[in-house]
Order: sequence, then C-alpha cells, then structure tokens
Amino acid sequence: MRTHFCGELNKSFLEKEVELCGWVNRRRDHGGVIFLDLRDKKGIAQVVINPDTEETFKLAESVRNEFVLKVTGKVIARASDMINKKIHTGEIEVLAGNIEILNTSKPIPFQLDSLDTSEEVRLKYRYLDLRRDEMQNRLRVRSKVTHYMRDFMDKHDFIDIETPFLTKATPEGARDYLVPSRTHEGSFFALPQSPQLFKQLLMVSGFERYYQIVKCFRDEDLRADRQPEFTQLDVETSFMSEVEITSLMEEMIRGLFNELLEVSLPKEFPSISYHEAMRLYGVDRPDLRIPLKMVDINEIMKDVEFKVFSGPANNKKERVAALKVPGGASLSRKQIDDYTKYVGIYGAKGLAYIKINEDGPSSPIIKFLGDEVTQKVIGQTQAETGDIIFFGAGKTNIVNEALGNLREKLARDLNLFDKEWAPVWVFDFPMFDVEDDGSLNAIHHPFTAPSGDIEDLLNNPENILSRAYDLVINGSEVGGGSIRIHKSDMQKTVLKLLGVDDDEARDKFGFLLDALEYGCPPHGGIAFGLDRLVMIICGADSIREVIAFPKTQTAACLLTDAPADIPKAQLRELKLKTIQ
Ligand code: AMO
Ligand code: AMP
Repeated sequence: MRTHFCGELNKSFLEKEVELCGWVNRRRDHGGVIFLDLRDKKGIAQVVINPDTEETFKLAESVRNEFVLKVTGKVIARASDMINKKIHTGEIEVLAGNIEILNTSKPIPFQLDSLDTSEEVRLKYRYLDLRRDEMQNRLRVRSKVTHYMRDFMDKHDFIDIETPFLTKATPEGARDYLVPSRTHEGSFFALPQSPQLFKQLLMVSGFERYYQIVKCFRDEDLRADRQPEFTQLDVETSFMSEVEITSLMEEMIRGLFNELLEVSLPKEFPSISYHEAMRLYGVDRPDLRIPLKMVDINEIMKDVEFKVFSGPANNKKERVAALKVPGGASLSRKQIDDYTKYVGIYGAKGLAYIKINEDGPSSPIIKFLGDEVTQKVIGQTQAETGDIIFFGAGKTNIVNEALGNLREKLARDLNLFDKEWAPVWVFDFPMFDVEDDGSLNAIHHPFTAPSGDIEDLLNNPENILSRAYDLVINGSEVGGGSIRIHKSDMQKTVLKLLGVDDDEARDKFGFLLDALEYGCPPHGGIAFGLDRLVMIICGADSIREVIAFPKTQTAACLLTDAPADIPKAQLRELKLKTIQ
C-alpha cells in the first residue's frame, strides 16, 4: 500500500511522488493550509494540504488525531523558516495530492506525548501506550537484544530447545502458578519457575550446550524488577567449569553492551565473594558505581559505655558498622531524620552519626564514645572535614540491609555515582541459609553443587559454600547460575539437609534422581533475566517499561482484566469448587 516510510524521507527524495501510510500524530489548521504530522514505525513526516486541492482539503478538515491515512503526494522542500533540524524529515514536507481515510479513531483517552499519564491508564490502553516513541524504541531494543543473544549462542554451538510449560513444580523459591488438569481429576500442573530440571535432563541426554529464551512463572511479591511471568535467557552446558561458563557469558554481555550502547565494559569483570559483598556493601548485589564502603568498627566499640554499640560489638551474630559519606556534613537535621526513618523500614532502631565540621567532630553520641574512640572511628573511616559518618549497630542482617540500602539511597539523593557501568560477579555464596530454628534453606535452588564432598556437607552444612555465581550490573542481579549436582547420592543428601525426606524426594524429583544415575555428565549453567537486562540497557526504572503487556504490582492485567472469574460449567468440568 505504500512506496516509502514517513520517517525515512529527507532532501534526497525531493520531487519524488510517494505513497505513505500511517497515523495522524497531529493536525494543525494554519489559516487556509492544513498540516498533518503523519506517523509510521520509522518516524513522522509533515504533510501539507492546500485549499486548491478542494476535495482532499475537505477530507483533511475531517481528519482527527490517530486517524489512519494513506497519503499520496510529492516531496518538496520546506520554506527556510519552517526547517526543523532536530528531526530526520525536518527539511522536507509532502504536498498531498490525495488522502484516503483508512480508518477513523475515537479521541484517545490520553495525550501520547504527555509525561504525566498514570500507569493505570497506560496499562489499560497498552496498545495505545505502545504507539509512543519511547515504548516503540524499548521494544525494538528488546528485539535487538534477543537477536544478539540468539546469534551469540548459535555461534558458540548452543542449540535452542523448548521445554514444557505444563509440568511439575520447579522450585526457585517462589510459589507456583497452578493449572488444573481436566483429564486427571484433582491433579494440577505447575507452570515452571524456570526450566532448571529440564535443562539438566538435556545434559543427561548429551546435548552439551543448550539455550532457550523462555518464560518463567513465579507467584511472589512483586517489585519494580519482578514480574509474575518474565523471560530468561536460559543456558546449560556440560564439561565446563564455572570460570569457563562465566567468561563465555561475560563475552556475550560485553558484546551486547558494545552493540547496543557502544559501551565498552571491562575486559574482565571484577568478582567479589558473597561474604565481602555483605561486609562492604550490605547486599549480595552490590552497586559498584557507588564509591562508598561500610567499615567494620566492632573492635573499636567493644568497651565503650554506649550500650547500643558495645552490645552488638561483643555479639557474634551482630555487628557495628560505619558508612562515611564525603561532603555529608552539610546534611540538615531534617534530612538526617528522614534517613533515620528510611533505615527504620529495614528494622534499624536508629541512625547514629558523627559530622566532621571545621571546628571538629560533632554528634550527640560523642559524649558516650569519648574523644579517643571518636578519633579512632575517624581514622578507620578516613573521614575528613565536611564528611558525615553514619552508624549501624545490631543484628548483622538488619545492619547490612539498613546501611546497604542507605548507601544506595544516599548515592541517588546526592549523586555519588563515580562511573556509569559496574558489572561484578558474586561468587562463594553459602550453600544454605540457616533459619532461627536451625533449619536450612537453599540460597540458590537445591540442585546447586556444594564446594565440598558429602562428608563436609554433613559435618558442617552452615559453612559450606556453593558453586554458584550471580552477575550483578549497577546493583541489579541480572543473572545467576551454578555448577550442578550431577550425582544422585549428593542430590539426595542435599535434599535431606533441606528437610525433604526420601519419600518426598522421590515423589517430587524421582525423575531427576533416576536420571542422575544414567551417566549424567558434570554440568552447569546460568539464566539471565532478559527483562532486567533490557531495562538496564534502556535506562528504564521498571521492567514493566520493557514488557509489551506487563502485569501490575498486584499481578493483574489491566488490559484484559485477567485474572478473572470463570464460568461455573468450566469449574464443574475441572471438578473444582472455590471456597471464599
Ligand atoms: P534465578 O532464580 O536467579 O535462577 O533467575 C535468573 C534471573 O532471572 C531474573 N529473575 C526475574 N526477573 C523478573 N521477574 C522475576 N520475578 C524474576 N525472578 C528472577 C533475575 C535472575 O538473576 N534456574 C536458575 C538459573 C540457573 O541456575 O541456571 C534460575 O532461575 O535477573
Ligand atoms: P538513643 O540512645 O536511643 O537516643 O540513641 C542515640 C543515637 O544512636 C541516635 O542518633 C539513634 O538514632 C542512634 N541509634 C540508636 N540505635 C541505633 C542502632 N541500632 N544503630 C545505629 N544507631 C542507633
């Protein structure tokens, strides 16, 4: 229907007859001359309709925003005072000979170029929201990312294999989405939280290198970087060590950033152990664009009379840490109060501080610490005049979370970032999380290999490290993987330590335990959160911005009104009854 795209026209097309199709972005009536901005997927061209083309002019008068038109006309130069150097088509316009209205449009419920449309309205009319340049670009970037990934995986001899969606629970730490079976009354499929078990089985089958760009389903508390259905680049390999896997994947990420953003990430990504990450940054996904580090001051605080500090300093499960913020002495009382409230969200009971002013340190707690201890703290944190030192004291996990998040908030508020991109691998996670009652949870999934043998595992499960690795970019966990357990007895031992007895293990994972006994090769892999990667590449602040049809924070689709009630007959057919 068209000979050219609106957005591609420029001076090189002067005097050409063109046929364009697109949407009316805007119509302007300039006393006798009508201008239409016609938009298609490549951009906008200005169409001019003169009153001397009587019929066309009449039609153009009836045209409204978002009507779909076919315009036939000639490319001409714009008058010199009408030239717009900012857009590709800004030096030309199309003098319309004929206009055909292919479809009309009701006035749309929000201005496409308005910045303050609520997300609710945007999601309800997502098909219109997606007409906006910004959304068109994001989805194009997403498509380029998946294209790049497929190309890379293909070049490295990985093969794309699909795995089932109607399956049995694949535990990744969230709740399952369940699908009732009609043919097996009272039984349910679970939608996969990841293809983890299937990709391991593909290694048993001898494919050696698998990948898939695949939807995963997790019923968990949603945040800006979490969706109930999201996409992974899922990878599994045989006979490769963690160093080989992470270096290959690093090469892909470097190539991706180079291709899409013309950004050169470091030749070798830095790495940090989980333990160091927690100690220095308070989180297991450190944002290394921020040059602030937490400093341990347990030793200094052991004997002070200030119980808030000396208590935790003498308790193995607690810590006292300091966070120096350069230039922070100028923070007002109100700002400090707000930060104190902020750390309260994470359970911190307060936020002690020392300001280093021109005339020396000042703080309500100096009188409890004494000058000597104060000077030691200043020495250890290398604080200088103009800085502020914040303190966290209490249970280690609370101090870490509080100061770790405070560090990131301060960086955002005071713009403390010293680089644009900071990828880092996190290694050496503990195998298990120990609950207060002594029970163990897998920190990654239960198929992750420990870095010891069965005996080590049984003797000392709390201190065993796993062979897992996460890739963090700018404080966001974009990928995670591990070397897997490839022997049945080790897998049974880990499941047992996690409180899964033999019967339950057989019931849930019998097929895996069997498969491990038929010549399963050593194997490992990784999965990247595609949505998160695209979000970071686009500089968007939520993964909803890079997903065509996302769910809300309460896991609903405002466009289709899903989830929805289903007819009684359908429930009966499935032998289901709802209880309210
Ligand atoms: P994991 O659970 O770490 O590992 O997931 C891998 C990556 O997927 C992304 N991600 C999410 N993105 C959006 N919404 C969510 N709800 C969500 N949950 C996770 C993150 C994360 O790093 N089977 C293992 C991988 C493996 O071991 O190979 C797994 O799924 O970016
Ligand atoms: P208080 O003795 O409770 O008045 O606290 C004195 C100072 O220590 C205040 O600035 C509190 O915000 C701070 N503070 C109290 N508890 C903690 C804690 N657990 N960690 C860090 N600072 C704290």
